[in-house]
Amino acid sequence: MLKQEIEDGQASLADPAFRQDVLRGFDAHPRAIPARWFYDRAGSELFEQITDLPEYYPTRTETAILRDCASDIATRAGAGRAVVEFGSGSSTKTPILLQAVAPSAYVPIDISGDFLRESSAGLASAFPGLTVLPVEADFMHPIALPMQVAQTPKLGFFPGSTIGNMIPHSSVDLLRAMKESLGEGAMLVIGMDRIKDPATLEAAYDDAQGVTAAFNLNLLTRINRELAGTIPVEQFRHRAIWNDDRARIEMHLEATQDVSFTIEGRPFTMAAGETIHTENSHKYGARDARILLRAGGWTPIAEWTDAEGKFAVILAEAQAARLAP
Ligand code: TRP
Repeated sequence: MLKQEIEDGQASLADPAFRQDVLRGFDAHPRAIPARWFYDRAGSELFEQITDLPEYYPTRTETAILRDCASDIATRAGAGRAVVEFGSGSSTKTPILLQAVAPSAYVPIDISGDFLRESSAGLASAFPGLTVLPVEADFMHPIALPMQVAQTPKLGFFPGSTIGNMIPHSSVDLLRAMKESLGEGAMLVIGMDRIKDPATLEAAYDDAQGVTAAFNLNLLTRINRELAGTIPVEQFRHRAIWNDDRARIEMHLEATQDVSFTIEGRPFTMAAGETIHTENSHKYGARDARILLRAGGWTPIAEWTDAEGKFAVILAEAQAARLAP
């Protein structure tokens, strides 16, 4: 991200992958842009604010569950594992797990080197003596972990219900890739948000202060800045819609009137009410969560929820390949 900003200052060199995703996304019907492009500097800061919002229950609920179950996880996982986190560590959740399991090493994996280095440095100073081995990679594919932990059994950590931001097909691919990356005898701690009443869900993704709206709309601002766009951002509004058939919250950007604009000189039009689909957040019933894990090669062995059952933290172990039954 930093690299992009420096390049932008010198010449208008947009990330070619961003250009391709945006141009293709605006051509497609329904229009959609991959959620990874939310996270420029402004987007990352807005996302931090989302996690503190009164309506956004997942972060604080999962953190409280982790506080309660961490010692239980430590007992079940046993001593000496390497904790491998998919995504660079969260400053509150990761220390809770590390404190409890006293791992032999901590291996955060993230596609963004900047975030990875920042959070690794923070954790290394909070846990002096802990071996921190950051890996800059896309965890959607199997990854060769550092040789220092080659022989060490792993405990994967995937909090935040980030799995829910993938469609089921991709989430199963990811679970399988994780299993391959972590190797034999691995265990996984995964956070999964539960299905609940639509009003609570929609409020979590459409807060009264408008922070989530600003986060979603920032994507258009980014397109205007990095891809010489002329999108009239104020003629779009944020929508968070519960799709009951697919059990997911969908985030959209809806044109409030007929709009026309250009992106890198290419003309686009949208009629009032048309949307750009920008994010999904799938929610899981208790059995949905378990069948998804099994489909991805993981056997659930324990799970913890808050008193109201809003969110679940599940411990699973890598399943040996086997045939039915
Ligand atoms: N995985 C989290 C969730 O779906 C975080 C997240 C991703 C999010 N994209 C978001 C939160 C957009 C709010 C808005 O809840």
